[in-house]
Amino acid sequence: MKQRVFSGMRPTGQLHIGHLAGALTNWVKLQEEHECFYSVVDWHALMSDYADSSKLESNCREVVIDWLSAGLDPEKCVIFVQSHVPQHAELHLALSMITPLGWLYRCPTYKEQIINMQNKDLSNYAFLGYPVLMAADILLYKAGIVPVGEDQSAHLEITREIARRFNGFFGDVLIEPQILLTPTPKVPGTDGRKMSKSYGNSINMADSSGEVWNKLRTMLTDPAREKRTDPGNPDICPVWDLHKVFNNDEEQKKEIYEGCKTAGIGCIDCKKMLAVHVDRVLAPIREKRAFYEDNPRLLEDILREGAVKAGAAARITMDEVNSAIGFVRRG
Ligand code: TRP
Repeated sequence: MKQRVFSGMRPTGQLHIGHLAGALTNWVKLQEEHECFYSVVDWHALMSDYADSSKLESNCREVVIDWLSAGLDPEKCVIFVQSHVPQHAELHLALSMITPLGWLYRCPTYKEQIINMQNKDLSNYAFLGYPVLMAADILLYKAGIVPVGEDQSAHLEITREIARRFNGFFGDVLIEPQILLTPTPKVPGTDGRKMSKSYGNSINMADSSGEVWNKLRTMLTDPAREKRTDPGNPDICPVWDLHKVFNNDEEQKKEIYEGCKTAGIGCIDCKKMLAVHVDRVLAPIREKRAFYEDNPRLLEDILREGAVKAGAAARITMDEVNSAIGFVRRG
């Protein structure tokens, strides 16, 4: 059965190949079977970056270009910027009335972020409510399915609880969404840690061949393999993790695995083969990116159209929410 799908991404600027393998590939598949809404959630970014919002707009553009380049098709799904649909804010406010503070203080991501992001002052009112805005995003579209990674599961649980509580007070209006856990392959960055913009270890979807090679060339491998003649252990090598995700040549992968363990091939040989596969995956993406960069008007049209379609769906839910609460609008 065709279902509503909603997912969002914060505008962090150019996306990396971890986003591609972890989320976008799956989003592209979902647009073939379901009615999908994909939103760049700029209000969510503002919650932590309010002290400098100067890059917000350009970061949104970069993210949307990466989405389109990866194969999201505005004919098949709705692509829009969260702040272009004010009903997100309106529903967020309504939901904030019924959300117990305890749910938010207890949220594991809130506790983590406060500790990890010491360089930002996150003691603002809205940041505590991050999951409430996320719930509004999802519930506004009555989405049945929300494809996200494991790190978002606590937020999805709060979303379901908020929907239930709202319906308990005001009648059955909102739909409890199901989480669709994206099978996230392990995509380490060049230093072996999880690929992440904030670690400065990412290979971006927009990187040129040369940039990809420069990053792979210096990427961390099995640290015990110091000399070319030392046998390596692919099972602890982050470069091998990337082969598992991006190399589609099963024969070659066997050769690399054996070659590494027997010192038959060196790390540079292995990385050269990986670079070919990363380039194979990125080549068509780069081509589409160049096209959209040359046609900025097209991007604007896509986002305007996306906001119109999302807004139409959002208004239907918001009307139901407002009349369930008992707000009567005259005129
Ligand atoms: N919190 C999500 C993240 O950081 C982004 C997000 C905001 C989202 N609203 C959403 C994801 C709604 C799914 C559905 O990745």
